[in-house]
Amino acid sequence: MRTVDLIHRKRDAEELSAEEIGFLVDGYTGGTIPDYQMSAFLMAVYFSGMTDREVSALTERMTSSGEMVDLASVPGIKVDKHSTGGVGDKTSLIAAPLAAAAGVTVPMISGRALGHTGGTLDKLESIPGFRTNLSTDEFREQLIKLRLAFIGQTPQVAPADGKFYALRDATATVESIPLIASSIMSKKMAVGLDALVLDVKVGNGAFMKKQVDARRLAQMMVGIGRRLDKRVQALITDMNQPLGYAVGNALEVMEVSQTLQNAGPSDLTRLSLELAARMIYLGKITASLEEARELAQTMLLDGSGYRKLKEVIAAQGGNPLVLDRFELLPNATGAREITSPRAGYISAIDAEYIGMASSMIGAGRDTKEDGIDPAVGVILEVKPGQKVDAGSVLCRLYYTRDERVEEAAQLVEDAFRISSAAPEERALILEVVG
Ligand code: URA
Repeated sequence: MRTVDLIHRKRDAEELSAEEIGFLVDGYTGGTIPDYQMSAFLMAVYFSGMTDREVSALTERMTSSGEMVDLASVPGIKVDKHSTGGVGDKTSLIAAPLAAAAGVTVPMISGRALGHTGGTLDKLESIPGFRTNLSTDEFREQLIKLRLAFIGQTPQVAPADGKFYALRDATATVESIPLIASSIMSKKMAVGLDALVLDVKVGNGAFMKKQVDARRLAQMMVGIGRRLDKRVQALITDMNQPLGYAVGNALEVMEVSQTLQNAGPSDLTRLSLELAARMIYLGKITASLEEARELAQTMLLDGSGYRKLKEVIAAQGGNPLVLDRFELLPNATGAREITSPRAGYISAIDAEYIGMASSMIGAGRDTKEDGIDPAVGVILEVKPGQKVDAGSVLCRLYYTRDERVEEAAQLVEDAFRISSAAPEERALILEVVG
């Protein structure tokens, strides 16, 4: 078998066999297929797509590219949650502690910043000392003790996803339904999950710009789960504006803390509670979704979710006091205010522009080797529907290096649309699949 022939056939939209897909996954993970050939293959998939059979084969081979984390010794139904990627999307850090506090076991395997979107692992690692590289034994022990642990894919667990993810980020091949579905489902299936709640984002700040594509992605992942006998439910949610007010790693941890103390933005709180409720229901802690919603709300109001996140931070090497004393988190050294050029109503805040600006000043990566700056990002001061005067502050850009601040400030300015009439309110949760 020759890699170039497989690239050629995928370029021409032919279906590859499971064996051929296995050859590509193993070759790239093992280092015999170089980046340039895999980049070409990914681009061919981006344009030609994949059949359901191909996506299942790709997912299974990526899952088995490393060890399977055996959680049989961990009691309880194991439920995870994953987002397809958004801007200001920190719901995992809120929903997971709420669900764990309610009794669900949550083995959370998360991703890093990708394109203009943020990643849960990068947010957690903005907490000084926080380790996401737990060994399998540490992961298991923490799940038994606290019912919640966060890890990423590692050279041992789903290594193929790690390599593909970084390459896609640097080759403009992120926004592909089969590549997103296999990336998410392969790492999820490598930890012994029973059920999964997916948040499939749609809108200008998401990888899927159209609801029809988001639905197709949701159906593909629910289908992969079903074929593997896992209960998977997907919410399709709006990502035309950033979720909450904070965008950027440490800034988002601050907003997580406020939200778990019931002082967070209403959109973020609402979505996190619904995701937690679905996790609680799939975890069979309650008999109905309605009861699960009430339990999630109780875990928020009585501070159980907040305390759970603190326990997990301490267990994974971080200082839990960061949730009370934000000065213990990395803080930016520079700030730039963006003000409104005129009076009116905020009719839209383009999430993609805000995400790109935040990434540009260091919250994301340009190449797969780049590090990220945990302190930087954007804090919105307004949300759509709000009335502003000329000169009102729309948002603040927090940075540590002057490089590209001008360019980022321009993007952020362009993200705000101001109209003379108040816009109609948009629904946040658009559909449920599965
Ligand atoms: N999250 C992932 O884990 N992978 C993707 O491709 C997109 C979002």
